[in-house]
Amino acid sequence: MNNIVSLRDITVEFDDEKILDSIDLDIKDKEFITLLGPSGCGKTTTLRIIGGFLTPNSGKVIFDGKEITNVPPYKRNVNTVFQRYALFPHLNVFDNIAFGLRVQKLPEKEIIRRVGEMLELVNLMGYEKRSVNKLSGGQQQRVAIARALVNRPRLLLLDEPLGALDLKLRKEMQIELKRIQKSMEITFVFVTHDQEEALTMSDTVVVMKGGHIQQIGSPIDIYNEPVNSFVADFIGESNIVSGAMIRDREVEILGRRFECVDGGFGANEHVDVVIRPEDIKVSAPSEAKLTGIVESTIFKGVHYEMIVDACDGKWKIQSTKAVEPGQEIGMRFDPEDLHIMKKMEEHRR
Ligand SMILES: Nc1ncnc2c1ncn2[C@@H]1O[C@H](COP(=O)(O)OP(=O)(O)O)[C@@H](O)[C@H]1O
Ligand SMILES: [Mg+2]
Repeated sequence: MNNIVSLRDITVEFDDEKILDSIDLDIKDKEFITLLGPSGCGKTTTLRIIGGFLTPNSGKVIFDGKEITNVPPYKRNVNTVFQRYALFPHLNVFDNIAFGLRVQKLPEKEIIRRVGEMLELVNLMGYEKRSVNKLSGGQQQRVAIARALVNRPRLLLLDEPLGALDLKLRKEMQIELKRIQKSMEITFVFVTHDQEEALTMSDTVVVMKGGHIQQIGSPIDIYNEPVNSFVADFIGESNIVSGAMIRDREVEILGRRFECVDGGFGANEHVDVVIRPEDIKVSAPSEAKLTGIVESTIFKGVHYEMIVDACDGKWKIQSTKAVEPGQEIGMRFDPEDLHIMKKMEEHRR
């Protein structure tokens, strides 16, 4: 697949602070790619660079093989949906969606046809004449998406578009958006700070922190093979401990040696080790190298979540069997449940 957009060595500074620090990113044509990271990490700034609302201090933006770093937004084949989607309050649903086509002075017949297609796409047939003020939050979001797609951009930028919706509606819209993206064959660059949303919707996830890209990969890659403790922690609830590689396929954590499946580290190299709560098996204390005291047990619907005090640290364990607080348990895991990561490079932000 070809790249539709490439960012090359993009740096953005505000007040002498590097907000984006030498960002390199390739976005493939027709993919659903998500920028994921905590608030303030530079997600919106990256979208603004792609949309042309901001010029980087250095670096290049390439669209379809041509440099567009200094091309203004309206000359880019890109549209944006913001969290505050700002529909035109005095216009009805039809006229909101038709707005961009009227600006282009398309014939009315063509406008009616294309708005009709969009209404069908976002499931709002029959709502043409409705005032947008009389729509629910989810319906307003659909109008905003239809309005952004009616011009058939090659690329749609979506900045936390579901942030204002309640959880149930948000989940519905996640599925809807994914369906719309597939059926229109448009590249979506989606921004969220919600890891579950990113993992559910995306072909590719870009994890950011402090103006740096930490990892780029498929949701499965990012979840199963996080490159460092930040990604592991951000993507899923994890137990992360320091350790040292004894040799390939053997790691020491908490003063005990465990078999693992990773290799290629230096002898005695310090590493971070992540163990997911769902990968820890509860056993009798005598059957495990690691034991701990259950501190709390909460029913979470599908499983129990237990906090266990072990080796001077708190461990999170998910189990289908509940253990009473105060009991001692053994904690076991298989070699493939230990994910070994390089120690993180520290950045200033
Ligand atoms: N116009 C601006 N002037 C100064 N600082 C800014 C400006 N825009 C963003 N920032 C800062 O840049 C950082 C990244 O912002 P942003 O890209 O909006 O983060 P995110 O979308 O990931 O929450 C934040 O620390 C923010 O305060
Ligand atoms: Mg933002």
